[in-house]
Amino acid sequence: MAPKRQRQPHSAEFFGPQRDHWWNRDHLALIAARFGLESVRSALDVGCGVGHWGRLVATVLPDEATITGIDREPAWVRAASELATRSSLGDRFRYQEGIAEALEFADGGFDLVTCQTVLIHAVSPRAVIREMLRVCRPGGVILVAEPNNRASLLVDTSVNAGAPVEDLLERLRFALTCERGKAALGEGHNSIGDLLPGYLAEEGVENVQTFISDKTEALVPPYGSEGQALRAYTIKQAEEETWGWSREDARRFFTAGGGGEDEFDLAWGRRQEENRAAARALERGTFHTAGGTILYVIGGRKPTGAGPPARA
Ligand SMILES: C[S@@+](CC[C@H](N)C(=O)[O-])C[C@H]1O[C@@H](n2cnc3c(N)ncnc32)[C@H](O)[C@@H]1O
Repeated sequence: MAPKRQRQPHSAEFFGPQRDHWWNRDHLALIAARFGLESVRSALDVGCGVGHWGRLVATVLPDEATITGIDREPAWVRAASELATRSSLGDRFRYQEGIAEALEFADGGFDLVTCQTVLIHAVSPRAVIREMLRVCRPGGVILVAEPNNRASLLVDTSVNAGAPVEDLLERLRFALTCERGKAALGEGHNSIGDLLPGYLAEEGVENVQTFISDKTEALVPPYGSEGQALRAYTIKQAEEETWGWSREDARRFFTAGGGGEDEFDLAWGRRQEENRAAARALERGTFHTAGGTILYVIGGRKPTGAGPPARA
């Protein structure tokens, strides 16, 4: 019998150093100014993981602002706490276990409630948004950074540019089938970002504003220090035969999305061929792409009056 693979904590495959390069600091500072974050003294980072987003957001908050992070994975809470202590940030950051849909905080306790790539994993993003709003003070800010993950599949690279239209459609069909399956299994909608401005407005958030990170995942030889992290991540995917997800997860999502078992093996083989072609070109130093992505940051203010509008 094959040895049972140990369960990795949620999102383990996404916590590499490439995650530190999703935002330009000056753009984040501009976003902070647009949302008036200069008055924030307490922030909550929901689904904090090992703290990438919270640490980044902290750089555009006043020095005296404290950041509390919650995550349902004990391993991430430990890792985030250790990282904060090691970086002498222990005074500003506090991490604890928690569930986004049932936050263990009193109403209205935080000036800013935020998350990054968490709503894409939620069974009900609206339930998480409501909870985030509950713990946000009236007049405080809710800010969510969430992607449309499928958009980047349409971006050309030096390796796939000019491929037959059918190949591109097959790739998109595979991704969409997996995306639908993941949602059907209650593991979240990977491109939920498109819908979130509307969800926030429907939950009564005022002055909803939507922006996109002005940073792409560009890979241009000789790649530079940031490019190296993304280059290494892409090569690792080819070596480990993953595609963002492991083969097992992709198979679960694909079949739950209506794809056939037999179809999966063929489609997965194609993804691996694509990965290997990209990895070979990266190793030769010939791979390049502008690497367009859609990572939204969407936010607004919790009303100072009564709660969300009544639904008819
Ligand atoms: C993709 S990671 C994002 C981590 C972090 N926000 C960042 O941007 O680096 C998603 C995180 O959300 C956590 N998570 C997912 N669903 C959750 C829930 N319902 N309650 C609390 N944490 C959750 C996962 O454990 C994981 O650490």
